[in-house]
Amino acid sequence: MLKRHLPMVGHTRGNRLPITCELKCGSACSHPVPNTSDNSHFRDIANAAISRRAALGLGGGLAAAVVIGANALDNAPAAVADNGVFPKGGGKLPFTAIAPVERSVDDVTVPEGYDWTAIIRWGDPLFADSSEFDLEHQTGASQASQFGYNSDYLNVISDGGNDRTGYLVNNHEYTNENLMFSPEYIKSNPKDVVEAAIEAHGLSIVDLKRAGKGQPWEYVVGGRRNRRITGSTLFTVDGPAAGSDLLKTKDDSTGTKVHGTFNNCAGGTTPWGTVLSGEENFNQYFVGTGAAAERRIGIAPGPTSRRWDTVDPRFNLNNEGYANEANRFGWIVEIDPEDPTSTPVKHTALGRFKHEAGTAVISRDGHAVVYSGDDERNDYAYKFVSRKKYRKGDKKHNMTLLSEGTLYVAQFHGNSPESEIDGSGAVPSDGDFDGWGRWIPLVKNDKSLVPGFTVEEVLVNTRLAADTMGPTKMDRPEDFEANPVTGKVYMALTNNSQRDADAIDEANPVPGNRDGHVIEMIERRGDHTSERFNWNILFLAGDPNQEGNHAYFDGVPLDQVSPISCPDNLAFDSKGNLWVSTDGQPGKIGYSDALHKVTLEGRNRGLVEQFLAVPADAETCGPVIHDEDNSVFVAVQHPGEGGDWGAHTSYFPDFVPEGPLKGDKVAVPRPAVVQVFSTTGNNGVGRGSGNGR
Ligand code: FEO
Ligand code: CA
Ligand code: CA
Repeated sequence: MLKRHLPMVGHTRGNRLPITCELKCGSACSHPVPNTSDNSHFRDIANAAISRRAALGLGGGLAAAVVIGANALDNAPAAVADNGVFPKGGGKLPFTAIAPVERSVDDVTVPEGYDWTAIIRWGDPLFADSSEFDLEHQTGASQASQFGYNSDYLNVISDGGNDRTGYLVNNHEYTNENLMFSPEYIKSNPKDVVEAAIEAHGLSIVDLKRAGKGQPWEYVVGGRRNRRITGSTLFTVDGPAAGSDLLKTKDDSTGTKVHGTFNNCAGGTTPWGTVLSGEENFNQYFVGTGAAAERRIGIAPGPTSRRWDTVDPRFNLNNEGYANEANRFGWIVEIDPEDPTSTPVKHTALGRFKHEAGTAVISRDGHAVVYSGDDERNDYAYKFVSRKKYRKGDKKHNMTLLSEGTLYVAQFHGNSPESEIDGSGAVPSDGDFDGWGRWIPLVKNDKSLVPGFTVEEVLVNTRLAADTMGPTKMDRPEDFEANPVTGKVYMALTNNSQRDADAIDEANPVPGNRDGHVIEMIERRGDHTSERFNWNILFLAGDPNQEGNHAYFDGVPLDQVSPISCPDNLAFDSKGNLWVSTDGQPGKIGYSDALHKVTLEGRNRGLVEQFLAVPADAETCGPVIHDEDNSVFVAVQHPGEGGDWGAHTSYFPDFVPEGPLKGDKVAVPRPAVVQVFSTTGNNGVGRGSGNGR
């Protein structure tokens, strides 16, 4: 593969360009915080005795075993070994942490002994009759048969018992029109541009093949599972709000059929083999009416930058018959990747907000539990517990689990005196930012538990309902996942410029939280259905080498950690180590976004080691850690986002910075799925050569 390192140009520590902020999340950071409720930071000194250590009292089960086996018994700061080297984390993918990478470096940077390849790129054809990617003639029809844009959630799954076939699932969160289409094409073909953008959203399911275990995957054109789900695909709606008047429009008098999914961010794969995907910043696609419920979710009156309403009237809520169209987005959707003819479902039982994440786990007694964050400054964290129980091997039954259950919102309590949470980042005297928490039920099956709200109102206007129940305002909950090895739950809080100094609390202790943090939660009794939990801050992100940082890594010496900022997607390896991808490091600490491994258990708990960096102006998404297979996968989202047409900052992954175009090599950045693999067979798996590098 032809690769080229671009010269160090435009190295600044500024934030994204205004246009890209607008496209990514509707410039959410420049709008007033939508949460104007009185909910805030909770102090509960009376409960000071209940701390993370209370987890030691957990009765049997997975989490109890975990806590006792881990460093919860040993909170002493990690120590530098006699030879002066900090003990590195365990796991099956040994590597020496790479140095942080300057943001202008247009390459995937991996550790010594590893190489990478792009499996599939935006525009690659998925079907035998797909149009070849043609930069100058993109339409809705062509894009609907090609891999979508801006990859986010990712999973790579090999077929059971088969090392040579499998598939990937990938969300396509949003579009960067200024990097996808030339200014001339945008001007002369505005309808094609909007239609192509609608079809570039959604998800792709793509069959994979390879020569054998440990080898790089290739995607299969015309694979039996290949499918595009886009901004126009038909979904059914289920759960207590299905059929509600709040979901009816001129096109759907039943309130049960919706075309499209978009701004799909983090997601998950269920134990029964389906895919969950969170509809996140859906607000920015709609022209609002000014209604209070719209404002609470961020929908504003006035034209949108995307102008989807110019080709489809449903995207303007002022148009007759479409006042409820936006209520049909903001859900967790479920898709059966094994059946390309299946109709995907929007699950109203999990509530409507800016869903980030949606990974289902099975509780000890068989209920499906889904954790999901609401990515907005000062909004909340949620979980859902199914009414019915999981049945192993019964996919049809299990696909009904998310249709009915209890929806909770989280309330955090700290256990240290308010005076010790002083905004400096200093650890309180009990040695931890920690405490306990309560899951507040909002809906139980078909009944509302929120006074003044019907069940349909709670599920459609979940933020407004939650506002009345006293949850804790968090620093932008992003990915929210349960560790399959230990049962502990982790929430990435990416940053919060609107965390006022007088509104810090022990769970969100940094004023103007620039770099974000990660919270570890331990459900009481080790039970994911519990209504109580213990929590602690695993780390406060930052660059220890920069002035004014709040970096804290549970006692790990600061000169031993990789700088990290803006944690976003989370994953685990087979040993239960946490892997954290970032979105926003360039604008905060000046380095390219990255994937870091974080050791969770033992004396080096909190150790952050950088594994890779993504190309210029890209975000690292969807990490998948197949350490048993010597591989790590990431989705490279919005490469070159800081540039513009004709002034690109990235040419990833084709690295053809100048025309003419050569074959399928294209001289614009293309979001893509990347596989990083060991070239040394360090896990006992033999490797071939480095796939053309
Ligand atoms: Fe799409 Fe909250 O990241
Ligand atoms: Ca404390
Ligand atoms: Ca995200």
